Amino acid sequence: KERINEPVTKVLSFARDFYHHILEHTELGRPALDYLEQRQIEKETIEHFRLGYAPDNNLLAESLQQNNDFNTQSILESNIVSGTDSDLYDYFKDRLMIPITDDSGNIVGFGGRALHQQDIKEPRYLNSKQSDVFNKGNLLFNLSAAKQEISLVHEVILLEGYFDVISAWQAGVKNIVASMGTSFTKHQLGLLNKVANRVVLVYDGDDAGKAAIDKAIDNLNNQHNLEVLVAPIPGGLDPDEYIKKYGSDSFKKLVNKDRVSKYRFRLDYYQEGIDLKNEQELLKFIDRILNKFVDLKDDLVQKELYLKELAQISGISLLNLQNQFNQHVVK
Ligand code: CTP
Ligand code: MN
Ligand code: MN
Ligand code: MN
Ligand code: MN
Repeated sequence: KERINEPVTKVLSFARDFYHHILEHTELGRPALDYLEQRQIEKETIEHFRLGYAPDNNLLAESLQQNNDFNTQSILESNIVSGTDSDLYDYFKDRLMIPITDDSGNIVGFGGRALHQQDIKEPRYLNSKQSDVFNKGNLLFNLSAAKQEISLVHEVILLEGYFDVISAWQAGVKNIVASMGTSFTKHQLGLLNKVANRVVLVYDGDDAGKAAIDKAIDNLNNQHNLEVLVAPIPGGLDPDEYIKKYGSDSFKKLVNKDRVSKYRFRLDYYQEGIDLKNEQELLKFIDRILNKFVDLKDDLVQKELYLKELAQISGISLLNLQNQFNQHVVK
């Protein structure tokens, strides 16, 4: 369990307010405000997530040093500035700042998005350095803010990215958190398990997102009290892009109505990019899918539903598929 380092939390809170102020009330913040406008992010959303802007200077480092509330040690431990005590400079420069809290709402770090198309050595997202205070794999973006909404509906929607959460919130879907990338850790699973009975996976619709859903289902399978559903996004879009393109109502329908079981997801996903007329590929597909279906052994209705479809797809009789299925169960 992370320890809360009070002095560091104070520094990070100061930084959050500083970045937010720069964004909203100074000329320096103009490029970031323009950027948010171009992404159709509204004022209310900026307030809710306390978005900010880190200017391309060392103003934060200077302000922190001039402030008697903070000592150099806690300033450095916050990882919001780098350097040595005599020469401190800002860690984040010319980035849109997204504050990240732990599940109790303590600020622990930031995600910083580049405003401009960058060269390869400047990542699109720069996050706070990994430390005792900030550990991405132990955090879920937006969990503390979404907790109430999640426990109201007993359900959490798991997204990939910062702007997926921000856009979904703006669209009126609020029981949302993000794993901040495609790797979904055991620790994050534990956090979800504490607040929800059901998780709906809404990762990006690209190949990486779909592969990540497949992997996340395996992780979630060890957590029997968490039901798993999937809402695949068509056209390779991510939730943010989907909302921009099709609107809020369409997104709500996607996550609330069009979601499917993990079996349905895999039945469709495993067929992608393979030629079922190729015998070797077909046999591999059947083996792969039966392997993943073993936990249907006690759910006779779903088992029949999906095996019937598998029979149709493959041309193998339902009886033989069922026998093969039983062998997988025994294995
Ligand atoms: N991510 C990260 N560091 C990176 C790349 C990604 O932390 N270098 C995390 C961020 O939380 C990001 C998420 O992974 O939001 C999903 O990544 P990706 O889909 O590549 O980016 P988007 O969120 O779609 O970025 P944007 O919409 O702002 O272009
Ligand atoms: Mn404000
Ligand atoms: Mn992605
Ligand atoms: Mn994305
Ligand atoms: Mn995106």
